[in-house]
This record gives sequence, structure tokens and C-alpha cells, in this order.
Amino acid sequence: MGLILGIETSCDDSAAAVVDENFTIHSSVIESSLAEHSSFGGVVPELAGRAHLRTLPGVVERALRDAGLSTTAPAIDAIAVTQGPGLVGSLLVGLSAAKAYAAAFDVPLVGVNHLEGHLFAPLLEAPDLTWPLLTVLVSGGHSLLVHHESPGVFHVLGGTIDDAAGEAFDKVARWLDLGYPGGPVIDRLAESGDPKSLPLPISMPGDNYDLSFSGLKTAVVRGAQKHPELSDADIAASFQRALTEQIMRKVKRALSATNYGGVALGGGVAANSQLRSAMAEAAAAAGVTCHLPARSMCTDNAAMIAAAGWHRLRHDGPSSLALAPRPSWPLEELAS
Ligand code: KG4
Ligand code: ZN
Repeated sequence: MGLILGIETSCDDSAAAVVDENFTIHSSVIESSLAEHSSFGGVVPELAGRAHLRTLPGVVERALRDAGLSTTAPAIDAIAVTQGPGLVGSLLVGLSAAKAYAAAFDVPLVGVNHLEGHLFAPLLEAPDLTWPLLTVLVSGGHSLLVHHESPGVFHVLGGTIDDAAGEAFDKVARWLDLGYPGGPVIDRLAESGDPKSLPLPISMPGDNYDLSFSGLKTAVVRGAQKHPELSDADIAASFQRALTEQIMRKVKRALSATNYGGVALGGGVAANSQLRSAMAEAAAAAGVTCHLPARSMCTDNAAMIAAAGWHRLRHDGPSSLALAPRPSWPLEELAS
């Protein structure tokens, strides 16, 4: 059976995984440097790059060992590595390591778009997906609605025209002095707040599938200043409700326009409890399957990179060893 070693270093997670051609995960190891960044209120690129240099070799070794493979001459068929988008210094560490392993193990290398990796995450958990899939990809860096026709065949329906959803969570949390990353704290706080306490606009940029979160963030700050009597929990709940509502309006529009087989969530914000239940409700109302991957599959991992690597290898063949990082690499460029 064919095995691919996936390597992911686009942001703060050093990750490696071994995945076979049927998308069964044989191992998946993730080491995050997030704790080093929390006091700075965001990921510090220089620190992230150095952390990858320190941790990636050990992470790759553990992924090979966990899959029952030799760490010096593993029986793998290829190496998939995140080529972009992401932090250039972090991508460089992963790419350089992947090239060295490919040469040492004498196997082909394939460069993968990180966002395409996220699109493959649901396939790792449920290989029997009902197609086409409407995928909502919401993370700290991206917010996209994607029509995924069949594995690797997709087009982007719309995306944020300003901040990403996770960025909005982080900015509101920073303003409330709740620390970084803000999403998990706001999610927890919102449980005890009144989502109707602060009326907020639901931005609807255009008659399309685009999203916008920058105005919402400003409205939250202005509203909170005007209503000092509101608790952090009330503000968190109101903000989370407005953000979820905006995403769900676009999701419902897509579900009524196209005969989807299922919906899927991906990216760090896919861990949000309100968004998860809203997606499940919308899917049930539309009579389609809802795929809510485990948190470890929503956030950055190398198994999804390995899975997308299988597709790219079959579709485009191996990449050259001269593969360069692509810090900015819109998913639209890969659309079919
Ligand atoms: O995908 P991810 O781990 O990293 C990238 O951005 O690539 O996503 C991180 C983002 C952060 O903005 C974080 O605040 C947000 O995901 N996040 C959440 C939750 N958990 C993480 N946002 C809302 N609710 C959550 N429970
Ligand atoms: Zn990601």
C-alpha cells in the first residue's frame, strides 16, 4: 500500500503525518509554538520559524515511528509539503526539510496548497462523503465558502473582503483584554452572556457569497463603549451571534441555490460551538449530511496535507526540488 509523509509548517504548528492512498491516517504528530506567541497577541513570524527549526526533525521522526516505519529508510512513496500560503520563514523550514528527506529517502516531493489541505480534511474522517460538498473554511487567516464537487475538484464561491473570521474573534478578544487566541475564550464566555444585549449589524457585502467581518468588529467596540453596563459575556455572545448569523445566511443561500450532498466545516473557527450547531441545524433543515471534523482535524495538521498531496501527485505529478515557498497563494488559482 502506498504511503505519503506529509509535512506542515505554514504557521505555528510543526506537523508531520503518514497517510495511505485510501486516506487512512497511520500517524499524525503536531507540536505547536502557540504558547510562545500568546504574550505578543498574535503569532510572531520570527519565533515561529525558529520553533519549526527546533521541533520539526523530532516531529517527523515521531510520525515515522508511530506509523511503524524506519526513521532512516522508511518505506514511503512520496513526501507532501505545504508550499503556501503562510509565513515565509515557517514555510521555508518545512520546504527545506521536505527536500532533504525526499533526497535522502529517494522519493518524489509534492508541494501542497495549505487551503486545499483543509478541503481534504473531511475526507480523512468520512471517506464515504456525499458529493458535492459545501465547505466553510474559517480560520485566523482565511474565510472561504467553497463548492467542492468531488475530491480535489472545486471552485471558490466567496470569501472575506477584509478580516478573516478568526481574526475578528482575536481582535475583539484583544480589545476586551481576554488574551490570544481569542476564539476559545469568546466561545466559552458567550455561553453565559445574552446574545441579544448588544444589537449588531449583520454585514451582507453584495448579492454573492462574500463575507466581511471588519465592520462587525468596529460595531462591537463602539457598542461596548456606548453600553458600559454590558458584561464581557454579553458582548462576546452578541458578537458571536452576529458573526455566526452572517456566515449562516451565506451558507443557506448556497444550500438553496445548489443541490448539495453535504456541508463541511474546516479551519480553527470550526471549533466554535455556536457555528457548529448552526451548521448542523442548517444541514438538517436542508436534508443534507453535516461533517463537523474533530478539532484536531479542523486546525492545522499534516494528515490533510498528505491527503491533498496524494491528489496533487496523481493529478500534476511530482514537484521539482527547486520548489519555492508561496506566502500568498489564493485557492482560486487551483480551482477547476
Ligand atoms: O486554523 P487555525 O488553528 O490557524 C490558522 O489561522 O491557520 O485557526 C486559529 C483561529 C484563531 O483566530 C482562533 O481564535 C480561532 O481559530 N478559534 C476559534 C475557536 N477556537 C479557535 N474561534 C472561535 N471559536 C473557537 N472555539
Ligand atoms: Zn490552516
